[in-house]
Amino acid sequence: MDRHSHSRPDQVVVRHLDMDLRLDFDRREVRGVARLDLERKDPAAPLVLDAQGLGIEAVAGLDGAPRSFRLEPEHDGLGGALVIELERGDAAVRVAWRTTEHADALQWLEAEQTGDGVAPFLYTQGQAVLTRTWIPTQDSPGVRATWEARVEAPPGVEVVMSAERRWRDADGAFRFSLSRPVPAYLVALAAGRIEFRPVSERAGVWAEPGMLARAHEEFSDMEAMVAAAERLFGSYRWGRYDLIVLPPSFPFGGMENPCMTFATPTVVAGDKSLVSLVAHELAHSWSGHLVTNATWGDFWLNEGFTVYFEHRIMEEIYGLERAQMERTLARGELERELKELAPRDTVLHIDLDGRHPDDGFSGVPYVKGCLFLMRLEEIVGRERFDQFLREWFDEQAFTSTTTAVLLERLRTRLLTAEELACIDLDLWIRGVGLPDDAPRPASSAFASVDAEARALLAARDATRVEAAGWNTHQWLRFLEAIEPGADAALLEALEARHALLASGNSEILAAWLRLGVRAGWGRADESLERFLASVGRRKFLKPLYAALLERPGGRERALAIYAKARPRYHAVATGTLDELLGWKP
Ligand code: BES
Ligand code: ZN
Repeated sequence: MDRHSHSRPDQVVVRHLDMDLRLDFDRREVRGVARLDLERKDPAAPLVLDAQGLGIEAVAGLDGAPRSFRLEPEHDGLGGALVIELERGDAAVRVAWRTTEHADALQWLEAEQTGDGVAPFLYTQGQAVLTRTWIPTQDSPGVRATWEARVEAPPGVEVVMSAERRWRDADGAFRFSLSRPVPAYLVALAAGRIEFRPVSERAGVWAEPGMLARAHEEFSDMEAMVAAAERLFGSYRWGRYDLIVLPPSFPFGGMENPCMTFATPTVVAGDKSLVSLVAHELAHSWSGHLVTNATWGDFWLNEGFTVYFEHRIMEEIYGLERAQMERTLARGELERELKELAPRDTVLHIDLDGRHPDDGFSGVPYVKGCLFLMRLEEIVGRERFDQFLREWFDEQAFTSTTTAVLLERLRTRLLTAEELACIDLDLWIRGVGLPDDAPRPASSAFASVDAEARALLAARDATRVEAAGWNTHQWLRFLEAIEPGADAALLEALEARHALLASGNSEILAAWLRLGVRAGWGRADESLERFLASVGRRKFLKPLYAALLERPGGRERALAIYAKARPRYHAVATGTLDELLGWKP
């Protein structure tokens, strides 16, 4: 049972969606009609869909005659049930709806909010429970359906979706289809002034024209990544692998929409230093799409496996040293986060009873999940662990699965009795914090960085920091290491030599700005405000606003910045930040 969906797939389940969508940029509204093909397990039961803030206009049988329906009250940010009474022969129904201003999945952008500033833009974000705000369907990761869509958009607007096939009708409408069943959170659409450039026969990049050349260069290893992933864990089952660079307000680094990764422009650094994001979203084509968490409490199955897989892809393509740096940074970040999290949020198999899936979001499912898999690999060796993972993806393909299923498989298919004695599976899955046997990745490339950081904190002489030739990862490590002693004078002296406020690397800049805020370093103020006004990526926003809150007078300042920037953020980001800042509209 998925407690974050109202649907009753045990009674009647949606197997296929055929949608007709019209994008109205003027009214900021999507109008839709969909035929939902059903499997009726209980012939007497109604069809129950999830709906949130939707205007349901009509429900009919395939005979065209209306079917009675009711919308139950919405609650807890999860919308409500749309209950449709079926007649005896109904193998499908047709639903007509329009979205409202409460469609949190949708972000409609004015031209000025895009990278190029020329034309308006629309994109959707479904995960975890937002698809119900723009499509009435069974919005549970445990329910899979195939789908197709016809989309009408204004002239000059290109549309892409998370689909295998894309073509255009003679009347200009865009057509899409996906022949593999996926959960509703993976249905996505983007529309605007975008162009495409291929990377290989099956992979390519979409972006606004002003970004396309840079993005294409940045992501030129996409084909190599797909090939490496296939060598590791079996064939790519989704046809094409494309990526779209969205406008800067996109609230995530990336979103693994099938066949079409959605990505923030903040990973286009110019030197491929942040492309692990592509490896990550690509990896979800196995851990996420082939095998999906059955409930949001099992989210770590999606993300933990994906982070593990991401590092393996990075290792294949860029070598062990790079992968080790990324693993090491990830563990460092997790340790910092663990200090702030409520104990119950540090559990892998998180209990989300009575909570919104977004409330449990943190680095825990990602990095603790990955460390768990690394620990298993350590115990059984890479060869056996890879074999186990290949079978996991193959045998469970196109299903949604639970932590219990994984545990059972670990016990019966991976670990010998002797090996089982080496690891406390229950502690890993249900325990708080990080178990003592969690691997401690290390990188020799960080040894000199750590030495420089120690020397700096001891002597406080920024002119002696030897940073020539440091890569992005080394800088990130350095900034993490100096945090305990970074006061304004120290930052000022480092800035004088290394001009980090001018860094074109969003990760470095965000980390540097956070140190600046914490130290009350006035020189960072202007960059900080520019950054917060232009970037909508929650991972950057949250720590920066949180750091502001800790400063004397910081709350007023945070709220003043937020009041200006908020209209440019996606609902996913404002959901988190409204709560953090105690924002009352
Ligand atoms: N699936 C997630 C994004 C997500 C998670 C959206 C939960 C909504 C709810 C995506 O794969 C992801 O993890 N993105 C990361 C990047 C990654 C490199 C760790 C992000 O956006 O920072
Ligand atoms: Zn992910």
